Amino acid sequence: MPSLRSWALAALTLAQSALGAPSPAHLSARSVDAWLADEADIALDRILSNIGSTGQYATSAASGIVIASPSTDNPDYYYTWSRDAALVLKTLIELFRNGESSLQTAIMNYVDSQAILQTVSNPSGSLSGSGTGLGEPKFNVDKTAFTGSWGRPQRDGPALRATALIDFGNWLLDNGYETYAEDNVWPVVRNDLSYVAQYWNQTGYDLWEEVSGSSFFTISAQHRALVEGSAFAGRVGGSCDYCDSQAPQILCFMQSFWTGSYMNANFGGGRSGKDANTVLASIHAFDPTANCDDTTFQPCSSRALANHKVYTDSFRSVYTLNSGIAEGSAVNVGRYPEDSYYNGNPWFLTTLAAAEQLYDAIYTWNRLESLTITSTSLAFFTDLYSSAAVGTYAASTAAFADIVAAVQTYADGYVALVEAHAMTNGSMSEQYDKSVGTQLSARDLTWSYAALLTANMRRNAIVPQPWGETGASSVPSVCVATAATGTYATAGVSSWPSTLTGGTGVTKVPTTTATGTTKTSTGTQTTTTTTTAPCTTPTSVAVTFNEIANTYYGENVFLTGSITQLGSWDTDNGVALSAIDYTASNNLWFVTVDLPAGTTFQYKYYRKESDGSIVWESDPNRSYTVPAACNVNTVAENDTWR
Ligand SMILES: *[C@@H]1O[C@H](CO)[C@@H](O)[C@H](O)[C@H]1NC(C)=O
Ligand SMILES: *[C@@H]1O[C@H](CO)[C@@H](O)[C@H](O)[C@H]1NC(C)=O
Ligand SMILES: *[C@@H]1O[C@H](CO)[C@@H](O)[C@H](O)[C@H]1NC(C)=O
Ligand SMILES: *[C@@H]1O[C@H](CO)[C@@H](O)[C@H](O)[C@H]1NC(C)=O
Repeated sequence: MPSLRSWALAALTLAQSALGAPSPAHLSARSVDAWLADEADIALDRILSNIGSTGQYATSAASGIVIASPSTDNPDYYYTWSRDAALVLKTLIELFRNGESSLQTAIMNYVDSQAILQTVSNPSGSLSGSGTGLGEPKFNVDKTAFTGSWGRPQRDGPALRATALIDFGNWLLDNGYETYAEDNVWPVVRNDLSYVAQYWNQTGYDLWEEVSGSSFFTISAQHRALVEGSAFAGRVGGSCDYCDSQAPQILCFMQSFWTGSYMNANFGGGRSGKDANTVLASIHAFDPTANCDDTTFQPCSSRALANHKVYTDSFRSVYTLNSGIAEGSAVNVGRYPEDSYYNGNPWFLTTLAAAEQLYDAIYTWNRLESLTITSTSLAFFTDLYSSAAVGTYAASTAAFADIVAAVQTYADGYVALVEAHAMTNGSMSEQYDKSVGTQLSARDLTWSYAALLTANMRRNAIVPQPWGETGASSVPSVCVATAATGTYATAGVSSWPSTLTGGTGVTKVPTTTATGTTKTSTGTQTTTTTTTAPCTTPTSVAVTFNEIANTYYGENVFLTGSITQLGSWDTDNGVALSAIDYTASNNLWFVTVDLPAGTTFQYKYYRKESDGSIVWESDPNRSYTVPAACNVNTVAENDTWR
């Protein structure tokens, strides 16, 4: 496939030299489609190569241990970081949920490895007593403590690990594996939630391991973890009153990072605060059922879009690679403009995050069937659509379609830059040179590949599970410095079933009553929370379209139909299916789309040929009604090309 990269560069140059013209955007999108289809497979393969002990670059790592990179010197990243590993596993668990069942073993091994790592005493402390050891950022690959000097503690690791494990735990509960969720997952999660509840209001090092202070990324990840942690506790028959008491206070503290025009990444550090930290926080906090809430910094919120512009614009003048690229066109972006690590360069994972935030936003606008521009977000939109004005645009208007198309083109531009700097064999390191674009620093960075996979899923409207944002977005009127104490206990490593199959179990309905007492700096609070979730009909259902279609290389399968979520019969806005599970004997293309329960619509599949031409299925149009039934949250529709 030697021509792919030059094709991408040509498309990109065209897109950027003829701003606003419709055809270059189309060209660029086609190239990104083709590259992503290949790169997603490569990315998953490289991630598995970096997980011990079966991964080819991680053979000396213990089972379930995710190395940051195979690079052992200049720089030496042959360690496991709690943060990186959790973000990688969060991605693998999402792929598993979407049908990548071969990842089951890697996920179980990760759970087991973390149960043990939690108990390893280290320079941050230990598990027993006060849980301080959970804040240790990195370990040796054989699960022993790393004892060199380092920026510690880092308090995002436990929160991110809890989020990854809760997603898997919820899947287990939904599929009839209650005992494994209760015995293998919950004890690990409970330690991490306890740590977050106890220490969120203390300083620590940021995700780049440089600033000691309060990091927005960390605080935001902690909020999410406690919100979903409480619900998960209820589902496994436990409770988390310390989650319930602290989460609103974390949300309260989060608001103080807003500067009025962008999100300040850190209190401490003496920098501008313009930092990928905040974009990563937004995509990690994305809840596909949420509104465009500023309070939780949802990707489509006015604040997060304003922040996207300020953050990305801050790199336009500092990288030679970006010279001459106008505002509103994608640029290579890095951690923060003052960065001097390897002289400060664009990173793959940050450039992908800039795209992912926009794909998330598009998903929500389509779901809400409207998009609102406020005075806060106006400058972001004006860059992309010069006649943008403050107001609400309904999905039925031409302006809505034009704005969404412009945001899509802009987002694809970031992916095209990543494509242009990835190697021909798909490898992505940590950084690429700000002047000449060659790859720098650690090779095959595991997180770079996870970032590619999540951006690709969001681009295909494959979204993560909701985490409870809709019930956790209102901010207390007074912020207090507070903490609560949970439970620390060694999580036993027990057995797992040899195969996990979806759809065998019955969703457990949570019914919990929790009463908790919390110490705060202003006194003692008593909270009583009663949650009774009766059988509920979901408002939206994850519909998986499975289409058996025999395709040749370069041909891609899409679907479109009569509703906006499927692109309103516009082949430029159809939904791309994935061939990740396509084999010679099973020509499967599939995609999962969240659709409003009860909606009836018509649809059809089509192929995009490598020259961009469209081939439709034969008539008649297909018809489908999304079920609206008690606890039916996911459903599959199986079709064959005709
Ligand atoms: C603790 O929380 C209070 C109230 O939100 C806030 O003012 C303070 O800066 C926080 N301190 C740290 C270190 O998180
Ligand atoms: C990808 O290509 C580069 C450059 O030729 C090479 O150094 C690297 O080892 C390759 N990566 C993999 C994973 O094969
Ligand atoms: C399928 O739907 C499209 C869009 O509404 C319509 O133009 C077309 O005539 C339909 N095809 C058939 C065979 O009904
Ligand atoms: C679609 O196929 C899946 C997997 O084979 C199966 O579980 C499901 O019941 C099928 N759905 C329908 C509507 O036939």
